[in-house]
Amino acid sequence: MVELKINDKIIQVPAGTTILEAARSAGFSIPSMCYLKGQSNHPSCMICVVKDRKNGSIFPSCAMPVNEGMDIISEDDEIRDMRKQSLELLLSDHVGDCEAPCQLSCPAHMDIPLMNRLIGANKFEEAIRIVKNDIALPFILGYICPAPCENACRRKQINAPVSICLLKRSTAQFSNFEEPKTKPNGKKIAIIGSGVAGLSLAYFLQLYGFSCDIFEKNKEIGGSLRYDISEEILPKRILDIEIEGIKKLGASFYCSSDFNPSFYEEKIKNRYSALIISTGVSTQDFSWLVEVDKNGIVINEKNFLTSVSNIYACGSVVKKQKMAIRTAAHAKQLANIIANIQTEKKQFNSRFAKLTKAELPEYLKESVSNNRNNSIDHLTGFSIQEAIEEAKRCLHCDCRKKDACKLRDYSTLYSAQQNSYNIGSRKEMTKQFDHSFVVYEAEKCIRCGLCVDIASSEKDALGLTFIGRGFNVRVQVPFNAKLEDALKTTALKCIESCPTGALAKII
Ligand code: SF4
Ligand code: SF4
Ligand code: SF4
Ligand code: FES
Repeated sequence: MVELKINDKIIQVPAGTTILEAARSAGFSIPSMCYLKGQSNHPSCMICVVKDRKNGSIFPSCAMPVNEGMDIISEDDEIRDMRKQSLELLLSDHVGDCEAPCQLSCPAHMDIPLMNRLIGANKFEEAIRIVKNDIALPFILGYICPAPCENACRRKQINAPVSICLLKRSTAQFSNFEEPKTKPNGKKIAIIGSGVAGLSLAYFLQLYGFSCDIFEKNKEIGGSLRYDISEEILPKRILDIEIEGIKKLGASFYCSSDFNPSFYEEKIKNRYSALIISTGVSTQDFSWLVEVDKNGIVINEKNFLTSVSNIYACGSVVKKQKMAIRTAAHAKQLANIIANIQTEKKQFNSRFAKLTKAELPEYLKESVSNNRNNSIDHLTGFSIQEAIEEAKRCLHCDCRKKDACKLRDYSTLYSAQQNSYNIGSRKEMTKQFDHSFVVYEAEKCIRCGLCVDIASSEKDALGLTFIGRGFNVRVQVPFNAKLEDALKTTALKCIESCPTGALAKII
């Protein structure tokens, strides 16, 4: 056995153990990308560097065996900085979008490409599940959203953007979606106003186990959705369908409720664990209750709390919102805050600008060439078949590994920037689809060699190989054969082991 210190902890491990494995066995986490236990090791990514406390030298821990008496530091500022630099070097010639441009420009951050894939596969029930993760009222918003996502849609470069907003509506139109019943948590929330904000809040809060009472000053539920938007834009029956869904979740509505000081004293104060003011653009004066300024109710931007504890405000009553989808997104954020659901740290996003001419056919490999169907009537929307056809126009700009990519996760962790090193013009994206379930995108490869090693050590048919030299080296199928012929038995293991989205499963 060899005795050494890692972060001042004395440990003993068998001779030949790498510092990386020794540290992990002692409970210290060290990031790795090109290393995989059991595979031969060609250190290249340099994310696993650690420091020798005695002489200050920094080296890759995946390649260094332990020595008697070593004194190792697994992470400090200098190491973090080196890791960040290594990531930035890899990112400098990395081409891909982690999240699609449409998703990044949707205020609710809906997973649009996944919705499109599911609609394209005639899976409307699954598609609405994806939509409802972020948008409580897809049927209503399918009529009134100005669709900022469509402005950002890559498909514009070929002919016209994908009709994302109508597709979202089609998920509500063509599914019989019932929310699962959630267990009440015993807490009651009062919501003032039943427009986009109030309804969306009630939807998410009920799902999280709160019981919601919604107070509306008008005779009917819906706020500006009912009273300010014409039947030609948003039919009342659509509004009623989504209100019904929220009632089914258990929310109670009280119409003709004038929210004034005596109403507050008699009906609300001390009866609820929280109160949310979501009355939309309102001429009502709330200064008797909370602090207001010329734009609306003053809130803490981080937690949407007003100047009074347990009183929140949401939507246009805080600041006039031009787009209902922004209000819908605020409502979900606030529901998450109230339910104490941690929203993740903003994730790293690899991005590249427009597609080049040569890239258009690469992206079209996964799509169809037809133009957007512009003959769709606003009120009727798509038929099932039309929706499926439109969804198939999507280019699937997102990365299939966006939730399982080490390069993305570590870039988030170490706050790596994509453009720290300028290497001139970017490489052009290629997409290899000649396998029944694998897609290979060479410009996302960090040349770790794991797939080459796995296919060769497990004696797969042809396997993969490195070609070229230096900066231009790339992984490829030998003899210009098909990926299908190269990865016959190890495809899944290669996908799982690939630290990026270079090798991914087509879904
Ligand atoms: S490979 Fe990773 S970093 Fe690159 S686009 Fe995909 S998820 Fe983002
Ligand atoms: S083509 Fe599809 S994935 Fe790409 S931006 Fe448009 S809707 Fe999003
Ligand atoms: S494609 Fe192969 S060499 Fe490239 S990153 Fe993935 S596993 Fe590594
Ligand atoms: S160099 Fe050690 S994990 Fe890549």
